[in-house]
Amino acid sequence: RRTQVCVIGGGPSGLLLSHRLHRAGIDTIVIERRTKAHVLSRIRAGVLEAGLVAQLREIGCAGRLDAEGQVHGGCVLSVDSEAFRVDFAGLTGQGVVVYGQTEVTRDLFAAKERAGETILFGVEDVALHDPDGAAPFVTFRQDGIAHRVDCDWIAGCDGFHGPSRQAIPRDRRREVEKVYPFGWLGILSETPPVHDELIYASSDRGFALCSMRSAHLSRYYVQVPTGTDPASWSDERFWDELRARIPPERAEALVTGPAIEKSVAPLRSFVCETMRWGRLLLLGDAAHIVPPTGAKGLNTAASDVHYAFEALHGHYGGSQSEADHYAARALARVWKAERFSWWMTTLLHRFPGRSDFDRRMQEAEIALLRDDDSYRRAMARNYVGLPYS
Ligand code: FAD
Ligand code: DHB
Repeated sequence: RRTQVCVIGGGPSGLLLSHRLHRAGIDTIVIERRTKAHVLSRIRAGVLEAGLVAQLREIGCAGRLDAEGQVHGGCVLSVDSEAFRVDFAGLTGQGVVVYGQTEVTRDLFAAKERAGETILFGVEDVALHDPDGAAPFVTFRQDGIAHRVDCDWIAGCDGFHGPSRQAIPRDRRREVEKVYPFGWLGILSETPPVHDELIYASSDRGFALCSMRSAHLSRYYVQVPTGTDPASWSDERFWDELRARIPPERAEALVTGPAIEKSVAPLRSFVCETMRWGRLLLLGDAAHIVPPTGAKGLNTAASDVHYAFEALHGHYGGSQSEADHYAARALARVWKAERFSWWMTTLLHRFPGRSDFDRRMQEAEIALLRDDDSYRRAMARNYVGLPYS
């Protein structure tokens, strides 16, 4: 069969791009390795920038988000026993929306189903052919049957481990990476959040984050060494460690309960600067990874969708050169999100072997944030999301 854009991966990048293209009259096929239930069971991001919210509204996918999402006008930074608030709304006039990635994905699946668009689940052996030629195509198997999709463009939305990035020859791919010597152990629990805003906490025992999905569902994380097995952490151990890292009055107020999900995510900064290769565009985690501090992963995937949509829409609208600008436009914003995520990670985590000097630098950064409005405003502007240029 044939389509205009073959989208590899049915995560947030693939679903948002294909539905935006569909609404603009451009035909797509989405192929996804997993089942729909599996995609919806992955607990990931929870903080949405205005740019992502605007894209969801524009395609009529924000009904539930607007009803159920919580607007957050600030967050708390806690360092040792001292805490202060960063007033995003006061400093930038903007906030963020707390609404789970799983819910965004659920809403996009529903919209695509209503529109009768094609998503093929459970595909195997996905391979990209001639991505830099004039007639690219994608092959895969579904239920043991071999398929071929011919297309004008391939959108690689298949996450960090997918085949799209690998389809660019190794010696023509520009990649930059930094790996951190720790990960985040996260749990989801059916308990009321410890505070009505997020708390980012740095302590001598390491970083912790108190987040949420709703008034009855909390998401908490603690920094753990690389290679930590989540099974080696009982719920009790997790709660004890979290309490020890957050302000004492919050620790006292913390309501605990069984973890309904528990997993470890490694921390990494990674950018494949070759975001376009002929007729292949890379989007989201397929092209770049940020450490989660600052909640930029999903939001940067969304800005890639914005630029990729403009490129493809421009292409079909007769301005053939639009696609040439995709990589440069997307990357300019990606690098700023990479910087912010690296900065916030470095500011708040306990690095093994930290020197006295490193410690003083963390303390001075925190003092500047606390005392200097313009420095705090710079942080807030990045947190709520830089505008799409
Ligand atoms: P993905 O969500 O990874 O989607 C890629 C899709 O492609 C998947 O559905 C996958 O099954 C599919 N796929 C893979 N291989 C193939 C193939 N061969 N063929 C077809 N389909 C394929 N960000 C935050 O901002 N905050 C967080 O708290 C946060 N937590 C995270 C926790 C974890 C464990 C991970 C892995 C990521 C987290 N992120 C977080 C990052 C954020 O979730 C991602 O940036 C976001 O999911 C990127 O969306 P995506 O669509 O580009 O990629
Ligand atoms: C969440 C994750 C983050 O990385 C972050 O910075 C804020 C919130 C979350 O999962 O809720």
